[in-house]
Amino acid sequence: MGRGSPPAPAPRLAPGLPALLAAALLLLLLLPAPAAGVNVTAVLAAFPGFSDFARLLASSPVAAELAGRSSLTLLAVPNANLPRSPSAFAAAAGADLADVLRYHVLLEYLSPPDLARVPASGRLVTTLFQTTGRAPSDLGAVNLTATAAGGGGSSSAVVVRSPSPSPGSNATVLGAVTREPYNLSVLAVGGLIVPSGFDIAASGSETRPSPAVNITRVLTDARGF
Ligand SMILES: *[C@@H]1O[C@H](CO)[C@@H](O)[C@H](O)[C@H]1NC(C)=O
Ligand SMILES: *[C@@H]1O[C@H](CO)[C@@H](O)[C@H](O)[C@H]1NC(C)=O
Ligand SMILES: *[C@@H]1O[C@H](CO)[C@@H](O)[C@H](O)[C@H]1NC(C)=O
Ligand SMILES: *[C@@H]1O[C@H](CO)[C@@H](O)[C@H](O)[C@H]1NC(C)=O
Ligand SMILES: *[C@@H]1O[C@H](CO)[C@@H](O)[C@H](O)[C@H]1NC(C)=O
Repeated sequence: MGRGSPPAPAPRLAPGLPALLAAALLLLLLLPAPAAGVNVTAVLAAFPGFSDFARLLASSPVAAELAGRSSLTLLAVPNANLPRSPSAFAAAAGADLADVLRYHVLLEYLSPPDLARVPASGRLVTTLFQTTGRAPSDLGAVNLTATAAGGGGSSSAVVVRSPSPSPGSNATVLGAVTREPYNLSVLAVGGLIVPSGFDIAASGSETRPSPAVNITRVLTDARGF
C-alpha cells in the first residue's frame, strides 16, 4: 500500500528569519558609511603654500562636514593672502569663521574648463554656507564672473563675489591647485571672501592687498621642483 507522502508542512517563515533581518539591518546602520567624499585635509597636505588655510579647515567643523560630500570646489587661500588673524577678520565682519570657511566650499565640481565658460553676466554657485539655513535668500551663493584681466592681455580672470545687492567682498581666482575628478576641485583665490549681509566695511583694513601671491611659485614649491 502506497503510503501517501505526508502533507508538506505549510511553508512558514523560518523562526530565525525576522531576527536575522533585524540583525542585518542593525549591521547596516552600524557600519560606517562607505568612505564617501573627500578628505580635504589630506588633499591640501601636499601643498605647503596652503597649510594655514588647511589648518583653519581642520580646526573647524567644516573639514568633517566635507567628509560625506562629493562634487565640491574648494576656494583655497594661500598662506600669504590670509589675514593675520582670520577669526578676528571674520568677527570684524560680524561672521562666524566657520561660516566664512563654508562660503569657500562650492557645492559643484568646477574644473578649469568650467571656469573658462563662466560668463561676464555671472554664474551663481551655491556654497556650503547655504546649507546652514543662516543665509538669507540666495546670499549663501557666490557669483562667479569673468572679467577682462588687467594688463592688456586678452585672457580673462574669474572673480568670486558675494551676490548683489550689497557690494560685498570679492577675490580673484589665481589658478587651479589640484583636483580629484569629480569629487573635489581646489582653486586658489586671492583672499577670504565674506558672505553678503555681513558688514565687511569694518574689516576692510584687515585685508591684505591681493594678489600679492605668485601662484606659479606657490604651486611649483608645493611640488618640490
Ligand atoms: C570620490 O567619491 C566616491 C564616493 O562619493 C569614492 O568612492 C571615490 O573613491 C572618490 N574618488 C576619489 C578620487 O577620491
Ligand atoms: C583626513 O586626512 C588626515 C591627514 O591625512 C587624517 O589625519 C584624518 O584622519 C583624515 N580624516 C578622515 C575623516 O579620514
Ligand atoms: C553677478 O555679477 C554680474 C556681473 O557683475 C551681475 O551682472 C549679476 O547681476 C550678478 N548676479 C547676481 C545674482 O548678483
Ligand atoms: C573687489 O573689491 C574691491 C574692494 O573691496 C573693489 O575695489 C573692486 O572693485 C571689487 N572688484 C569686483 C570685480 O567687484
Ligand atoms: C612667478 O614665479 C615663477 C616661478 O618661480 C617665475 O618664473 C615667474 O617669473 C614669477 N612671476 C612673477 C610675475 O613674479
